[in-house]
Amino acid sequence: MPRTPRPKKAVAKPRAAAPAKAWAGRFREPTDPAVEAFSTSIATDLAMARHDIRGSVAHVRGLRRAGLLTAKEAAAIERGLGRVLREIETNRFEVRPQDEDVHMAVERRLTEIVGPVGGKVHTGRSRNDQVATDLRLWLRDEIDATVSDLHDLVRALLGRARSDLGVVLPGYTHLQRAQPVLLSHHWLAHVEMLLRDADRLADARRRANVMPLGSGALAGAGFPIDRERVARDLGFDGVSRNSLDAVSDRDFVAEFLAAASILAMHLSRLGEEIVLWSSQEFGFVVLPDAFATGSSMMPQKKNPDVAELVRGKTGRVYGALVSILTTLKGLPLAYNRDLQEDKPPLFDAARQVRASLQVLARMMPRLEPAAATMRAAAGGLSLATELADFLVERGLPFRQAHEVVGRVVRECVDRGRDLESMTVADLASFSPLLDHRALAHLTIESALARRSSTGGTSRAGVERRLRELEAAHGRGRAAGRRRR
Ligand code: ARG
Repeated sequence: MPRTPRPKKAVAKPRAAAPAKAWAGRFREPTDPAVEAFSTSIATDLAMARHDIRGSVAHVRGLRRAGLLTAKEAAAIERGLGRVLREIETNRFEVRPQDEDVHMAVERRLTEIVGPVGGKVHTGRSRNDQVATDLRLWLRDEIDATVSDLHDLVRALLGRARSDLGVVLPGYTHLQRAQPVLLSHHWLAHVEMLLRDADRLADARRRANVMPLGSGALAGAGFPIDRERVARDLGFDGVSRNSLDAVSDRDFVAEFLAAASILAMHLSRLGEEIVLWSSQEFGFVVLPDAFATGSSMMPQKKNPDVAELVRGKTGRVYGALVSILTTLKGLPLAYNRDLQEDKPPLFDAARQVRASLQVLARMMPRLEPAAATMRAAAGGLSLATELADFLVERGLPFRQAHEVVGRVVRECVDRGRDLESMTVADLASFSPLLDHRALAHLTIESALARRSSTGGTSRAGVERRLRELEAAHGRGRAAGRRRR
């Protein structure tokens, strides 16, 4: 993620010495300090400084091509913008109390550096199309970084699936033991979810990658700037087609946050499983010490805080989605200052999702599955379906087979016995169809091997899907690196 520059503490200056506001011509008195404090967004939107400057450079080139700046003026402004960028990147940029937002701060500093010609940078532009452009540029980078982090977690899960091949655990429905499954199949289930998330993010990026610049305040720019050319310079796929829409549209924020919410929900479900599995009640995985925390009071404790926090951060991400949807729902066209409230939740949610992806990608390879405990929990009554399927193969309608095996299970439960301990004679007393061949079905291996239809948990099927995913992932990663 682009490093967020920390705004330097503003130097307190007497009000009289403060530079006049951009709109000072229209006003008889200076802004009340309470209004200034209430309406400033610089602490948040300084994170978009790079994108703001990049947008301004492209705009200046557009102005130059349209003959609105001389070559000398354009060069001076570009050089000045370059200096502002360096100041921001090296943490030397000084924020002033009058800098309402990043756009005004950059222009103010630019003008200090290059003189009055700096005032020409805002020709044919409003902060309304500027902020919409900056935010799309920011989000585009953020989506790319999120998808890259997501793929790191996919790689970690594929690694787990490869090294855990052969480990069996009970699959659950209603959190009751249901049927044996391969642990690798379980990890690959999470990979499938994450790949859908990557797809949703790519889709959100596609609609975000359209340039609003040139929409002016709301009605369009009053100068003949070649918008398509500016868009190409900025790597946008195209330009917005309605200026009113372009300055007021934050669908792209909502779409990203919707995709991020679903992603966070998936990470939360993985986190929840790690919490359960690392409990003494399950004992399915041991957490590496480096990814667990102790208790300040109870010496025996080893807590899965990472998984819990991943689960907990989900609420923050959903909150951001609800926040933007609520901000947008009552807004008349076109720009309204409410829209400034889009950034804090967006930036926070993006940061939390990436942090969750990053820490999980580090933790997953270090989990230690307790293969023997998992296997011990996987057999027993979880094999009941196998017996029913055997009866179906012998010609019994499934409903009747279910009923016969139900009685076998009840007997087991009543006598505290396991299905595997049943003898041929025991089984035969429930149905003449349950002969010696039935016993061969009552093994975990047989249960797994039978589930060989596409998407099932048979070893062959899981290995096939794992190979496909490994190959696709290698290809996808290579393509991602080429793009960057
Ligand atoms: N800081 C503002 C925002 O984030 C920038 C646009 C302000 N435009 C305006 N007309 N006040 O939305």
